[in-house]
Amino acid sequence: MKIKNICCIGAGYVGGPTMAVIAQKNPHINVTVVDINEKRIAAWNDEDVENIPIYEPGLSAVVKEARGTNLFFSTDVDAAIDKADMIFISVNTPTKTYGVGKGMAADLKYIELCARQIAEVAKDNKIIVEKSTLPVRTAEALKSILDNTGNGVNFQILSNPEFLAEGTAVEDLLDPDRVLIGGNVNTEAGREAMQALVDVYAQWVPQEQILTTNVWSSELSKLTANAFLAQRVSSINAMSELCEHTGADINEISKAIGMDSRIGPKFLQASIGFGGSCFQKDILNLIYIAKSYGLNEVADYWEQVIIMNNHQKRRFAEKIVKTLFNTVSGKKIALFGWAFKKDTNDTRESAAIYVADYLLNEQAEIVVYDPKVSEEQIYSDLNYLGTRSEQENRKLVTVVRDPYQVCEEAHAVAILTEWVEFKELNWQSIYDNMLKPAFFFDGRKLLNKRKMEDLGFNFYMIGE
Ligand code: NAI
Repeated sequence: MKIKNICCIGAGYVGGPTMAVIAQKNPHINVTVVDINEKRIAAWNDEDVENIPIYEPGLSAVVKEARGTNLFFSTDVDAAIDKADMIFISVNTPTKTYGVGKGMAADLKYIELCARQIAEVAKDNKIIVEKSTLPVRTAEALKSILDNTGNGVNFQILSNPEFLAEGTAVEDLLDPDRVLIGGNVNTEAGREAMQALVDVYAQWVPQEQILTTNVWSSELSKLTANAFLAQRVSSINAMSELCEHTGADINEISKAIGMDSRIGPKFLQASIGFGGSCFQKDILNLIYIAKSYGLNEVADYWEQVIIMNNHQKRRFAEKIVKTLFNTVSGKKIALFGWAFKKDTNDTRESAAIYVADYLLNEQAEIVVYDPKVSEEQIYSDLNYLGTRSEQENRKLVTVVRDPYQVCEEAHAVAILTEWVEFKELNWQSIYDNMLKPAFFFDGRKLLNKRKMEDLGFNFYMIGE
């Protein structure tokens, strides 16, 4: 079976970049990305390709190449479903904020809405691809909705979790460690559907890196991968605190253990804690699934990763207050970075939000500089927490577009995102314009402690 038309529901951080690369590498396939968010679709279609709604290095070039040729962005979901032989579901699956499983389970309402819409519109056989990260056994629920409300057409359900990391999405998509495709391996139709998706990726990914598995393994692999990655961050962060009490240096430890080939060097960087839309949500979901099977020890094991992460964010904020003579009330603190990591404008679950919130509770005056995050987004993140009124957030927080202005008359600077450009700032001039003693808290281990101390800063670095 050869795919001619692909539809992707959800034009977000996953749907947008993934489909742009699939379209670029499959000029014979028409790819339409649809979303109910009109503003987002309009931005994807913006004449100036630099205005697309997601910032990722290299993304605008890929979009420029394929858009209007075989890559389209639209709000007409029905038309795209109708035309497609393969439909990717790439909608958000946030943590539930209500009812059973509140604060833990993945909210699958957007997924279910997609399934019902597909069932209603589809007039011929379709392959449905789960691209969103989903609890294990979601394919069963999808199949049941599709088969019971559909027009008698045949649906094959595949799981194809996305392993891209924000900030390196295009690179990861062009050269993935592996592509994972789960499906019904026991039927001819299931195997055919899997092969159709293998063919799409085989346009640029070597066959041996395209793994096919049963659908449950594929679904659970994504949660497992994120749990393992987040666990490494929490493990190294736990050791960073011990370093601060013992004179050991977390960088030296990371290097020493990372050279052990059984451990490997990646994801061993101590920091203020992980953020992003996925790690916390997916581990909470994993905990919820384990509990639902009565596997309490499994649930408790993974919960510790989240507990450690919350502790790390909090202890960084506490350190600032303690160091500034136990009070930050009325003191200006300059925050460098708001995105949850460098090279993205995504701020979901960013550690910066929690650090800022803690400091605001201590009545600090916060000034923020981030090269890619908008002022509107920063206020919206703080307002979403509901800790204080929107007016108060506006009064206490200022967003500036100039990294030098952010520090004028500041008592302290805190690095919250590892943007490379922060390394190149003229820190001497920043130091000169700050109040003294000038405190510096490097939550990303970005700068050289000795050099910064030579400039005059009172410098705190995580894990030293
Ligand atoms: P996102 O929130 O950026 O995008 C989701 C989009 O789906 C939104 O624009 C929303 O308007 C749209 N949408 C929701 N319901 C819809 C409907 N019924 N019809 C049409 N459009 C609808 O989310 P993101 O970050 O792209 O994540 C999507 C999924 O991919 C999630 O399950 C996430 O866990 C997973 N994932 C995310 C990664 C990331 O780095 N952000 C990496 C790997 C997986």
